[in-house]
Amino acid sequence: MKEEQTSYGSLEPTKLLIKNATIVNADNSFVADVLCKDGTIIEIGQNLNISHDEGDVIDATGLLLMPGGVDPHTHMELPFMGTVASDDFYTGTRAGLVGGTTTIIDFVIPAPGQDILEAHGQWMERAEKSASDYSFHVAITWWDDSVSEAMGVLAQDHGVNSFKHFMAYKNAIMADDEILVNSFRRASELGAICTVHAENGELVDTLQKQMLARGITGPEGHPMSRPPEVEGEAANRAIVIADMMNVPLYLVHTSCKQSLDAITRARASGQRVYGEVLAGHLLVDDSVYRNPDITFAAAHVMSPPFRPKEHQEHLWNALQSGNLQTTATDHCCFCEPQKMVGKDDFTKIPNGTAGIEDRMHVLWHHGVNTGRLTENEFVAITSANAAKIFNIYPQKGAIQVGADADMVIWDPSKKRTISKDTHHQNIDFNIFEGMEVEGINVITISNGEIVYRDGKVNAERGRGRHIARPLFSSDSRALQKSIEKNSVAKVDRKII
Ligand code: URP
Ligand code: ZN
Ligand code: ZN
Repeated sequence: MKEEQTSYGSLEPTKLLIKNATIVNADNSFVADVLCKDGTIIEIGQNLNISHDEGDVIDATGLLLMPGGVDPHTHMELPFMGTVASDDFYTGTRAGLVGGTTTIIDFVIPAPGQDILEAHGQWMERAEKSASDYSFHVAITWWDDSVSEAMGVLAQDHGVNSFKHFMAYKNAIMADDEILVNSFRRASELGAICTVHAENGELVDTLQKQMLARGITGPEGHPMSRPPEVEGEAANRAIVIADMMNVPLYLVHTSCKQSLDAITRARASGQRVYGEVLAGHLLVDDSVYRNPDITFAAAHVMSPPFRPKEHQEHLWNALQSGNLQTTATDHCCFCEPQKMVGKDDFTKIPNGTAGIEDRMHVLWHHGVNTGRLTENEFVAITSANAAKIFNIYPQKGAIQVGADADMVIWDPSKKRTISKDTHHQNIDFNIFEGMEVEGINVITISNGEIVYRDGKVNAERGRGRHIARPLFSSDSRALQKSIEKNSVAKVDRKII
């Protein structure tokens, strides 16, 4: 991990003025000056000025100014599969700032049977060291009345408006259909959104046992035990349950055509279903698992696995058409000694890969530079859409008066080569190793402070803030209409 720290002046100015930038929002681009004070954007206009004493001035002529990235799917210091993810809330969010991501939404994952309020408290404590802003989804890993009640407390008092369900990881954190139905119904009642990791955990378990019985113990067994059909089935099941329970649904890490088709069908029928894709699934294919170097193959073990190349085109098409709305990383780092615990049994390799530092760069390079995405669509899929879906827009995901001053200054002509030797992520591997990207952030601004500039990072431990996310209104007409759709008329029968 690269370890340079620098300071930008000692005055601690409360104002920051960015002049002559091309502001790129999800809906339009225009040239203007942006004035920030105390962490908020207070003015956007022409010929704005401040005196030297009032704060810093950046001339961004010829550069783009975009909302800071929102990564809606990370796992900092996650205890998982017998170990703990190696990037903690400080190192991981700091690496995110270097890559232009200024907000993460991480996951509280209670152990089955654990009080979910207690788990939420543990994660809140861990996250106090964050260098960027953060928020939490909460996973529902078991069910009884106390969980239902705690969901209400989290939603009403702790700014949690999204509940996560792992349909895989049997005998650990898997949510079966009973949990899904109960939790989805409760979330609907509260005005929250549900999210799912869609893989059929029963099938994965059976296929893993089959692979091991056939003597396939290496990482190549990982994708073989988690084929796309397993993801497609779970995606479809979650979508149907969400429809019956009248709750909006967000599918994390959509990796293949099968689950994408389920999302597309549901959206075409009017259901509120959203899909996320990981930068990794857009760019890395399943050949990595057949690499003769077991450490290389194991470093790529994550779920769902990287897919045969043809799936990537479907994922890109869906991002372009809007059937997938967000991009994330599922940032969950494990170093080689942790991965090698499963060298003789792929089912024991901790699942997870990194990417928070590289998401924006690889998406710009492979999305915008190739003509697949406009610069405005880039903003939509890296920040604005996630902020909207999880109800923190326009506080996050927009450059407008009143929004948080979280921004990146982007040089579309500057290049960077991605490498584990220079990245800031606390992991000894990079799935994008050696990739040269054109178009990178040269400055990151978080809460009105310059936290990264030209390769130097200055982001204090603990400077990040928790972002509470309000519930969605439950009295909307659309929701009412959807409830009526599923209601059954009572039949009056005569007693004979
Ligand atoms: O392999 C992964 N994705 N690890 C993190 C946990 C999850 O499933 O999101
Ligand atoms: Zn997952
Ligand atoms: Zn995840």
